[in-house]
Amino acid sequence: MRRTKVVLEDYEIPKQWYNIQADLPKPMLPPLHPGTGMPVGPEDLAPIFPMNLIEQEVSTERWIDIPEPVLEKLLLWRPSPLYRAHNFEKLLDAPVKIYFKNEGVSPPGSHKPNTAVPQAYYNKIFGTKRISTETGAGQWGSALSMACKMFDLECRVFMVKVSYQQKPYRRLMMNTWGAQCFASPTDLTESGRAVLAEHPDSPGSLGIAISEAVEDALMHENSRYALGSVLNHVMLHQSIIGLEAQKQLEKIGDYPDVVIGCAGGGSNFAGLSFPFVRDAIYGKNVKILATEPALCPTLTRGPFAYDFGDLAKKTPLLPMHTLGHDFVPAPVHAGGLRYHGMAPLVSHLVNLGFIEARAYEQISTFEAGVNWARTEGFIPAPETTHAIAAVVDEAMRAKAEGKEKTILFNWSGHGLVDLAAYDAYLTGKIQDYQFSDADMEKALRAIATHPKAEK
Ligand SMILES: Cc1ncc(COP(=O)(O)O)c(C=O)c1O
Repeated sequence: MRRTKVVLEDYEIPKQWYNIQADLPKPMLPPLHPGTGMPVGPEDLAPIFPMNLIEQEVSTERWIDIPEPVLEKLLLWRPSPLYRAHNFEKLLDAPVKIYFKNEGVSPPGSHKPNTAVPQAYYNKIFGTKRISTETGAGQWGSALSMACKMFDLECRVFMVKVSYQQKPYRRLMMNTWGAQCFASPTDLTESGRAVLAEHPDSPGSLGIAISEAVEDALMHENSRYALGSVLNHVMLHQSIIGLEAQKQLEKIGDYPDVVIGCAGGGSNFAGLSFPFVRDAIYGKNVKILATEPALCPTLTRGPFAYDFGDLAKKTPLLPMHTLGHDFVPAPVHAGGLRYHGMAPLVSHLVNLGFIEARAYEQISTFEAGVNWARTEGFIPAPETTHAIAAVVDEAMRAKAEGKEKTILFNWSGHGLVDLAAYDAYLTGKIQDYQFSDADMEKALRAIATHPKAEK
């Protein structure tokens, strides 16, 4: 019988996270304090994050133990299965083997709880009572809502307005897990009110929602903020995906030529790929590819610069590829990919040449996603379809070159709460947007006065 999936037993779950900071051939630039222009210290971050997570953020330890209470929760859905996409392979009729790591099996339906659970846990043991956050697609907000309930914490979520409207069921998931969810920009914060005063119809953006969530945490006692992507400790927590995938592939004696993930802030992509990037750093021949929307082309077009993670400039200046902290991407359906910046670790590894990036237009990604659903059954999240579009590309290249190829990608989440997006696609109501020269000029203006970041 042919093999369709590789599963690991509970006891085979990785017991440590992998920290790629230990293996970087060249160290990263530090985040800077916008006021002093000096590297930020732990005390600068302490009002926003608990100290135990700040320690992880700056750690260069290669392996970090996963606490037992975190493992117990992760075991509810992990280890996640590694699948072979036989049916999609047949459709493509190319000399490729396609594997995907199914992160859609978690309760909220994506990779996001891999970091929500440890973040809630570390906040709990630190003494935090209440966590605020932003969410784009709603996946992160629902993951954190669930994780906060697991550790008895209050949770407040600022959801980008366009997604809030497109996805009422995400809000209801958050409410079911006991969290409060608001359509951002709101009138609850100064940052939100400032945006509404200028643009009453603002569709919102992750940059705005982050400002609101940070402000909300700063305004309340025993409150902290949690970020679902971008930061080093988030990449660390997500490494469990790639570590499991390596064990699973080892079991069947295979290894990928190409590793693919979609990248919004970079966390699911990093989670799958960093253990393979480590192999590449030590000489292995493996191509690592990040994919993003053409209208929010952070890695493919955004300059590498110091920039804020949010619109209201409440975060430190991060060294990253960016489209400018005031960029509000067009309301495409892949809400989780509508972020102006990119994880500093992913940005750095792109600069060092270990990661390639490619941008896809919305319609082509839905086409790939629908073909996927019609062959493999699972309906992917609109973000995930950006990875699938690249899988198709890589397969077609292999066919043109007459070369066999093994492709591994991260199936970052299911799209069962994104069916309105599929409706729009299936009824011809979605369009492609371009990132214009004017957008690029605006991006350059947004970072013009920031300290320069040398690659
Ligand atoms: C299903 C899914 N995939 C991908 C992403 C992109 O985020 P990241 O780049 O941090 O993985 C999101 C973000 O919300 C998501 O919900």
